[in-house]
Amino acid sequence: MASNHASMFTNPVLKWVDERFPMTGMIKEHLTEYYAPKNFNFWYYFGSLALLVLVLQIVTGIFLTMNYKPDAAYAFGSVEYIMRDVDYGWLIRYMHSTGASAFFIVVYLHMCRGLMYGSYRKPRELLWIFGMLIYLCLMAEAFFGYLLPWGQMSFWGAQVIVNIFSAIPFVGPDLAVWIRGDYSIGDATLNRFFAFHVIALPLVLIGLVAAHILALHEVGSNNPDGIEIKKNKDPKTGIPLDGIAFHPYYTVKDIVGVVVFLMIFTIIVFFLPDMGGYFLEANNFIPADPLKTPEHIAPVWYFTPYYSILRAIPPLFGSQFPGVIGMGMATMIFFALPWLDRGAVKSIRYRGTLYKSFFAMFIVCFIVLGYLGVKPTSVWGQLGDWATFVDTKERATWVARFLTIGYFAFFFLMPWYTKADKTKPEPARVTMH
Ligand code: HEM
Repeated sequence: MASNHASMFTNPVLKWVDERFPMTGMIKEHLTEYYAPKNFNFWYYFGSLALLVLVLQIVTGIFLTMNYKPDAAYAFGSVEYIMRDVDYGWLIRYMHSTGASAFFIVVYLHMCRGLMYGSYRKPRELLWIFGMLIYLCLMAEAFFGYLLPWGQMSFWGAQVIVNIFSAIPFVGPDLAVWIRGDYSIGDATLNRFFAFHVIALPLVLIGLVAAHILALHEVGSNNPDGIEIKKNKDPKTGIPLDGIAFHPYYTVKDIVGVVVFLMIFTIIVFFLPDMGGYFLEANNFIPADPLKTPEHIAPVWYFTPYYSILRAIPPLFGSQFPGVIGMGMATMIFFALPWLDRGAVKSIRYRGTLYKSFFAMFIVCFIVLGYLGVKPTSVWGQLGDWATFVDTKERATWVARFLTIGYFAFFFLMPWYTKADKTKPEPARVTMH
């Protein structure tokens, strides 16, 4: 790369490096000569914010690891030690725990943008697949990390999730023992979860993020109009007419997003670190006790839509396996999106009522399933007194069942409704609002 470009550096040291390493080449290719559509809106902040949170989690994670002990006898105490005795330990820990929820908020908004503007469609299928692999990796990372403080919810949450694997016919029980390294969650489990959380998964995550961005720069960004800016290039320069250089235009714009994000983030870290039990659950301030099952076990909010789907699907011959399949499918089905969508246009701006209704239904189903998942089943019973012929607890189960049907209908009916949808014609050039 370096040989194709005259060095952009005048400093002799940088020039010396540039002649031996493609600095100018990379800066031009990915920053100053990467042309992004000029109509990016609010929804385009979340990619750079996800990068910021990734760095934040890695840096705070390194400092936590300096004082944390991955040993069932010491883990809970070492976290208390970080919170009370280590200089600024409380800040590092709260930044990391808030960062975990912030990561999912940012990634869910980032994925929502992809859905709205059809960013998963040709030629961005592989970019989407890398994104989905990041999402799965992130869920595993959060799950492993949650065991480490060795509180009641760490222990019992992991117990419930690993037991889900036992529902798989034939191999399930052996698989669960293999994952735990013991017959119950124990010291062996804590050690291996620590290894996955601090090194294995972060490495995979960083690699996937690099692949994600390389794939993005290969095909170019989509935009809120869902039209390809590469189809309209300046005949002389070959630069897209609707494109602007990523640096300085979007680097500066992204700083606005970063500032607003950090304002909200710091307010939470300093004033609301447990977010009323949503970011850090009350039960997790009690040391893990294998002999005392908490009354209400629920995963952290970002897993709860899937947890509700698991609880909503009835067992078959006493086996939870159908629920497990449903939950697995609910996550994996996103991979298929590029091939399910047969719409004439990409962006929701030019789609018809049919698509918009299905999309709105999906968002409602996802949020309400998430809400039901954080509530204990005893609360499921308090959802009004309609259908008095059904037991109170059953009522919410039925709500969750309908929402699960709605969730899957969005995907399974997509080839039909995207095709049948009455779309508007796309503009020839991007529009600015
Ligand atoms: C650590 C997590 C992630 C990071 C750091 C990340 C980073 C980025 C960045 C910097 C961009 C370009 C700027 C932007 O469009 O906002 C981008 C675009 C994109 N990402 Fe991600 N991403 C992550 C996770 C995901 C996930 C989970 C998905 C979907 C499953 C996804 C799908 C996409 C798509 C489709 C685009 C192109 C959007 C467009 O051009 O309209 N990403 N990502």
